[in-house]
Amino acid sequence: MFKIAVLVSGGGTNLQAIIDAIDAGVIRDTEIALVVSNNAGAYAIERAKAKGIPAEVISPKNFGTRDDFNDALLKRVQEAGVDLVVLAGFLCAIPEKMVDAYPYRIINIHPSLIPSFCGKGFYGLHVHEKALERGVKVSGATVHFVDKGTDTGPIILQKAVSVENGDTPKILQRRIMEQAEWKILPEAIDLIAHGKVKVEDSRVTVLG
Ligand code: GRF
Repeated sequence: MFKIAVLVSGGGTNLQAIIDAIDAGVIRDTEIALVVSNNAGAYAIERAKAKGIPAEVISPKNFGTRDDFNDALLKRVQEAGVDLVVLAGFLCAIPEKMVDAYPYRIINIHPSLIPSFCGKGFYGLHVHEKALERGVKVSGATVHFVDKGTDTGPIILQKAVSVENGDTPKILQRRIMEQAEWKILPEAIDLIAHGKVKVEDSRVTVLG
């Protein structure tokens, strides 16, 4: 079995999409060994518990220093013996130590077509506010490997979604989740679990 950890901070709809994709056989030969939230109030924790998946809160608030938090997060993920770390709406910066420990084995879902509307400050609804402010007609989502930058790692999958007249940030966010995020994140996990994703010179090739 290919083992993954899913790191969350909020509602956990992407976590739910992964759970459902495993149940439906869209993600094959894979189990969620651990869910970690930095936020004790995250509904994602309930989603994990409802499925009997080990779920824990590891919050910077409970540690004296950021380093201590970083060490605890890395230790827990290592103890779980996972092959891949999936950031599904995780709002904490990933420690450099973790990037070093899991080269091209951490992926993130970002709700825009990178390199648009990404980088520092582009998270949650802000991404969609900025896209609407700019007046783009197409947005979407990106699954990428995590490196030491913010949203700078090699791109694995992207899916475009139309912007419609009258969209608000919330409406656009929801459409991008439904039409892109909940599809390409599970798809990327299945591809990686089956050795179909190769990285060379910081670029990804998805094998057919
Ligand atoms: C998603 O839009 C994801 O792309 C972003 O944060 C949101 C998380 O939503 N990084 P959820 O917690 O999976 O519902």
